[in-house]
Amino acid sequence: MTTAPTRTLIVGSGAREHALAWKLAGEPGVDEVVVAPGSAAIGFEPRVRCLPGVDPLDPAAVVSAARSVAAELVVIGPEAPLAAGVVDALIGAGFHVFGPTQGAARIESSKAFCHDVAAAAGVRMARARAFEAGDEAAARAYVAELGAEGRGVVLKQDGLAAGKGVTVYGDIGLALDHLPSYLAAGRGPGPVLVVEERLVGQESSVIAICDGREAVALPASRDHKRLCDGDLGPNTGGMGAYSPLPDLADDQVEAIIATVHRPILAELARRGSPFIGFLYAGLMLTDEGPVLLECNARLGDPEAQVILPRLAGALGPVLAAAAAHRLEDAPLTVHPGATVGIVLASEGYPGTPTRGLPIDGLEAAAAAGALVFHGGSIGRPGGGFGTSGGRVLTVVGRGMDLAAARDGAERAANRISWAGMQRRHDIAAVLPPEPAIAAGVTS
Ligand code: AMP
Ligand code: GLY
Repeated sequence: MTTAPTRTLIVGSGAREHALAWKLAGEPGVDEVVVAPGSAAIGFEPRVRCLPGVDPLDPAAVVSAARSVAAELVVIGPEAPLAAGVVDALIGAGFHVFGPTQGAARIESSKAFCHDVAAAAGVRMARARAFEAGDEAAARAYVAELGAEGRGVVLKQDGLAAGKGVTVYGDIGLALDHLPSYLAAGRGPGPVLVVEERLVGQESSVIAICDGREAVALPASRDHKRLCDGDLGPNTGGMGAYSPLPDLADDQVEAIIATVHRPILAELARRGSPFIGFLYAGLMLTDEGPVLLECNARLGDPEAQVILPRLAGALGPVLAAAAAHRLEDAPLTVHPGATVGIVLASEGYPGTPTRGLPIDGLEAAAAAGALVFHGGSIGRPGGGFGTSGGRVLTVVGRGMDLAAARDGAERAANRISWAGMQRRHDIAAVLPPEPAIAAGVTS
């Protein structure tokens, strides 16, 4: 059995990294968790220290941070450092790393690459085609072809876009109007736009801990991507999440690991880019079974904030085992209860958020028994915290079931406020019926 790393370095500074630091620092055998750059709020956690000067996108700076703290394990939180080659540099410097190399992280950083790998692996995704900047006529024709089937279309920017480069269209005319701006915004060479058929169903996030070959499922969760109640408004990075899912039983999650994650791992390994890290499958649970919408090369945000509190046993040894290609050595245990997370966001998000406003009610929320993970806050000179970004906080309630967890999250979130704060009031409020799909094969 692999033991807990005594000193882990986490790269990142958001609410997902706050949840990771909270989880790992609370585990037996851990001396210290260091977060680079982290934030004032993350540094408030017991046994957590932050290195605020470190640029997470600079591979050399992250390597030197790992050296300075003699990290036994490095865990990468967000996608941008992965795409910047931070993992490759750390491995080159001899560190144990839980996170994919730049080559393996392309599964997220290029939607066209993800479609290509999934097709080769026999994993079903939405029908789609990728287009280069000069392909406007062909792209228009494909949008029209999907539209003629009465399906609706989805336009996706090819590169990383923090969940905001995707628009779902029921109105084909509008999609055609917007198409030139998608093509113009893309950065070539290569595909800049993916056009997909629109799928209908419930979404779910199935994330696995992967060691290059083997995959172990984390509890399934569901993110609420739209800004406003009732799933209205623009797509965001995620406005709230919950776990478990009433419509995705554990055996269905295992079927997804077997038919989505493991084939993708095998294909990436075959291409010389074995994937070590959190492999996130965003799925649409359709009438015909689960269909892969996207892969991410990391934990979701806000999914991590509801998944990590559900882990009953230690996570550090499992991540260390995966980094050493020995996942079978470390079991993962899960609490039977439920978690619900509500994101509190700044005015203007997902556009340009307002910043610098004092946050009220944090202590009252914690006193109500909720976990509060900070994504976009800064410490204020006189004490307390102010806003510094779009998605500022995730307030997580825990309970024996989703109703109890939701109640806890709502009560705590109701105590927090600042000028212009935006949030949803229906996270986990309308749950899908229990077995919505047949246990699924996706290919
Ligand atoms: P992605 O970044 O690819 O996950 O897309 C962001 C969001 O857009 C997803 O979480 C879905 O809500 C929606 N979406 C993406 N692809 C599709 C699709 N083919 N059909 C319907 N909705 C989609
Ligand atoms: N919540 C969706 C994501 O992290 O991509």
